[in-house]
Amino acid sequence: MGNAAFAEYNPTVMDHFLNPRNTGELKEPTCSSFVENPVCGDMVKLTLRIQDQVVVDARAKTFGCAAAIASSSALTELLIGSSVERARGIRDRDVVNRLGGLPAHKIKCSLVAEQAVAQALANYPT
Ligand code: FES
Repeated sequence: MGNAAFAEYNPTVMDHFLNPRNTGELKEPTCSSFVENPVCGDMVKLTLRIQDQVVVDARAKTFGCAAAIASSSALTELLIGSSVERARGIRDRDVVNRLGGLPAHKIKCSLVAEQAVAQALANYPT
């Protein structure tokens, strides 16, 4: 993509943006969340399937900027196969690291991913 607007993103971010992993919604998820960034209005719906305290599947449906879409895609990769305990510890910096970095002014866009997993697991028993 030759658009200068995307020049600030590294190839990993661009790949997750253009080919987001695990998109959509799970039918009958174990738990879910819907998070909206109050500043820009970008939204993420996250659905998880949990078995024996392990996240066995995750889907994200994201309406947002390239960084938000890439972040929720990376988040699903971090989640799948992770224990619930480890999933609770996922922070935006983990998502940013998985993406190989985000431009400084787009770091905030990864926060919806962190909030989505926290909210989805908020009522899940430990
Ligand atoms: Fe809204 Fe990126 S501009 S999450």
